[in-house]
Amino acid sequence: MLEVLDVEKHYDHPSGKIQVLKGIRLTILDGEVVAIVGPSGAGKSTLLHIMGGLDRPASGQIQFADEDLYRLNENKRAQIRNRKFGFIFQFYHLLPEFTALENVILPALLDKNVGSMDSVKAKAILVLDRVGLKHRYEHKPHELSGGEQQRVAIARALINEPKVIFCDEPTGNLDSESGKGVIDLLMEINQKNKQTLVIVTHDEQIAKRSHRIIKMRDGKLV
Ligand SMILES: Nc1ncnc2c1ncn2[C@@H]1O[C@H](COP(=O)(O)OP(=O)(O)O)[C@@H](O)[C@H]1O
Ligand SMILES: [Mg+2]
Repeated sequence: MLEVLDVEKHYDHPSGKIQVLKGIRLTILDGEVVAIVGPSGAGKSTLLHIMGGLDRPASGQIQFADEDLYRLNENKRAQIRNRKFGFIFQFYHLLPEFTALENVILPALLDKNVGSMDSVKAKAILVLDRVGLKHRYEHKPHELSGGEQQRVAIARALINEPKVIFCDEPTGNLDSESGKGVIDLLMEINQKNKQTLVIVTHDEQIAKRSHRIIKMRDGKLV
């Protein structure tokens, strides 16, 4: 599904060059749930962003299906990100001025081949139902709990039926009960739809329930 080939990444900082990823090789299979763990600063988020087509590596490749992600032009890569990938972040990254429903609709509207507004809306409602937010469509993010906001973000990630969902500390800002709800939901999504999950996490519960745990330290896999 996804192949990381000798990926390196550094930042040029006034204090000197920071080597963040030091040659990462990794294969992720279709339908897998992979947890990426390791200390803060190990490069986990950087690797996740690179795998998701959000941040270009200094060298190396990301192969998704038969495409070399960073050899595609920006438009084509954006299209893959929108149609094939979903993203879930620690702090949800919902648009504050929009309702839950509008936040979920947005990625579908970005696609030129989208159907009618009515069909997009109907689909968004189905997805919001699926994540347990039947009565919260018209709520704005600040009118929702952390757990509910993360469910909206999950619904937004699901609307275009992605092949891979990239999650960066998805339970990192939640109490243990809402966190468990989010993990249950992610696992159910994987089991029912066979969508691949790549989850950066400190959460033992996620690590335990994933198919494979990948440990990172100091820019390398260990
Ligand atoms: N934009 C940036 N400029 C300079 N250094 C950065 C930048 N982004 C991240 N870093 C550094 O890269 C390292 C890895 O960061 P990150 O991938 O966020 O680690 P993790 O997610 O494992 O905590 C850290 O030491 C961080 O300070
Ligand atoms: Mg991080």
